[in-house]
Formats: sequence, C-alpha cells, structure tokens
Amino acid sequence: MSNIPTPHIAAKEGDFAKTVLMPGDPLRAKFIAETFLTDAVLVNNVRGVNGYTGYYNGKRVSVMASGMGIPSMGIYSYELFNFYDIDNIIRIGTAGSIHPDLKIRNVVLAMGACTDSNYGAQYELPGTFAPIASFELLRKAVKVIEEMGNIGYKVGNVVSSDVFYSDRQTTAAWQKMGALAIEMESAALYMNAARAGKNALTICTISDSLVTGEVTTAEERQTSFDDMMKIALEIA
Ligand code: HPA
Repeated sequence: MSNIPTPHIAAKEGDFAKTVLMPGDPLRAKFIAETFLTDAVLVNNVRGVNGYTGYYNGKRVSVMASGMGIPSMGIYSYELFNFYDIDNIIRIGTAGSIHPDLKIRNVVLAMGACTDSNYGAQYELPGTFAPIASFELLRKAVKVIEEMGNIGYKVGNVVSSDVFYSDRQTTAAWQKMGALAIEMESAALYMNAARAGKNALTICTISDSLVTGEVTTAEERQTSFDDMMKIALEIA
C-alpha cells in the first residue's frame, strides 16, 4: 500500500498479523513478545514503540504499544487499520475502578467507551456517537474468561478520559451512569474501528480503585497482566 511505511510505523507490508494486541507500554509489548510468542520478530521501533510479530499456539499474531492517551492510540490504531489493513486490535491495558464491586486485579471487558474527549467531533455527526466493542471479539473474550473460571470480571462501559490529573471531580457523575472504570484509550480505538469497518476490543486489568484507594503491587500487576494477555492471545 502506498501509505506505508507511515510517519509512525516503519513496518513493511505484510509484517503485521491480522490481529494486533496493543498494551500502552512499549516495554510491555516487548515482554509479551518474549514471553508468550514464538519466533517473534521486531517489525517496528519508531520512537521506541516496539512492534513484534510472532506465533501463539501456531496462530500468527502481532503486538505493538499504543502509547498513552487518545491522541496516541488514535494515531497507531488509525495507521494499523487503514494503512496496514489490520482486521482486529485488542487493547490490553490497565484501568482505575470506579465501581464498588470491581476490585483490583479484576478484569473489565469494555463493551462501550464513554469519553470526555472531543475526538469524535471530527466525524461531524448530528449527535453523539456510542463507541462500542466488536461483538464477536467480546463474545469470544467472555467465553475464554468463563472457561478459565477463576477470574473476576465485568462487562460494561469504561470512561476514556483525556485527563489523568484533573482539576475537576467527575468520577461521581460517571458512577451514576454505571460506568465501571477509567482509562485513556478505548474511545479512540473504538471510533477508529467503526470508521474503518474493523474490529476492536479493550480488555483491562484494574490496577487501582478510585472507590477504595487500593493499588496493585508490582507482583499482583504481573500475574493479573498474565491473565489478561492469555485472554487476548486466546481470542487473537
Ligand atoms: N485514570 C486513568 N487511567 C488509568 C487509571 C486512572 O485512574 N488507572 C489506570 N489507568
């Protein structure tokens, strides 16, 4: 395709598998490639955003970081969907719980992604757009989690916020609407998927609770990340 390489991705045509797992952190992408994939090759390293393609149980799969926030996810997912013709992007990240029943280490499947971002304004819709996950990917993720059996999880709305350190207290308003957790990327991913006619799902591990103030230890984060990665890799 004439648009590749892109300003942000140096991979060549065919370097990516049809499904790309996207953690926020480039080092996490490296860890996933080294730990879970076989024959992983580095296909991108622009700005240190490591992208790898390898195999999981014989299935070809890629992993590349999204960076933090809607603008960064917006760029990488746009280029993957539209220029590299990727079919599926599965975000695997962390989120802060705003729901009393959602404890640290639990998993959230983002059926929808509310947002305080203006990202959707570009589509000039005569109303608000509801960014949603791919039903097929969501259904597969639920099946895998149920089969694993020992993972606490919820399916529902997350809030993709533009602001980590906010001057305003907005959590209570989102809680009233039943939102589960706050993160910073899914709305852009889901909108880009919708616009490109592709599929997306966010799987998040709760890393901290805005309800109880609990945070995960490094060790807890590691094991719960492993669960989330297995779910993502199984459905890839
Ligand atoms: N806010 C936004 N993103 C996050 C949080 C949070 O509290 N926790 C993990 N990712």
